Amino acid sequence: MPIPIEVPTRPSSTKQHIGRSSRAHGPRSGDAHSLVIRTPHPSEGAQMWTVARDGGELDLNSSYAYLMMARDFATTCRVALSDNEVVGYVLGYCPPERPTHLFVWQVAVRGDQRGRGVAAHMLEHLVTTGDVDALEATVEETNGASRALFASIARKHQAELTWSEGIPAAHFPDGHAGEPLLRISPLR
Ligand SMILES: CC(C)(COP(=O)(O)OP(=O)(O)OC[C@H]1O[C@@H](n2cnc3c(N)ncnc32)[C@H](O)[C@@H]1OP(=O)(O)O)[C@@H](O)C(=O)NCCC(=O)NCCS
Repeated sequence: MPIPIEVPTRPSSTKQHIGRSSRAHGPRSGDAHSLVIRTPHPSEGAQMWTVARDGGELDLNSSYAYLMMARDFATTCRVALSDNEVVGYVLGYCPPERPTHLFVWQVAVRGDQRGRGVAAHMLEHLVTTGDVDALEATVEETNGASRALFASIARKHQAELTWSEGIPAAHFPDGHAGEPLLRISPLR
């Protein structure tokens, strides 16, 4: 059964205890011992926008876009909270013509929380609580952290990671680099 979309959900909360990581990348200041990962509340689009803005790496969408995703696509989005503050998010949706594919539009983690598995846990939560058989995303060639994140998901699920053209640079009106599309499947 496809992941239901545009269905109002009561945020399903899964408290995950994520310990300190031995991985070398990412600063550790502000380390919290547990995070809550769940679907966003409608008003939390504002905090998702703030995480995107403060990170400075992503194409920042309008605050309206994050609020709409949190309101109407909460089932396919996730937030990670530390001390009740949003420190990471995934914006996702299921393309209507591929309803069991989860397209990850953006994933971001606040700088002081990186390198401890927050992004991986949010994606894992999405994949395991929905009926997803493939995960898709576009990732610029220069985004090593994002490529490492998706490669890790593929490895964990023993799934194939394939690349296609995605959105070529010529389609962007503003000099944006091309966004190759990755697909991870099958997910079980
Ligand atoms: C990409 C991003 C979301 C990763 O978040 P994170 O919580 O630090 O990632 P995790 O700790 O869950 O790491 C998941 C995997 O990716 C790897 N990884 C994450 N960041 C990495 C980095 N900078 N360099 C190398 N590997 C990295 C981890 O080692 C881990 O792999 P493993 O399971 O094999 O050990 C974060 O760096 C970020 O917010 N970047 C800015 C926004 C962005 O570029 N988003 C992606 C495009 S939409």
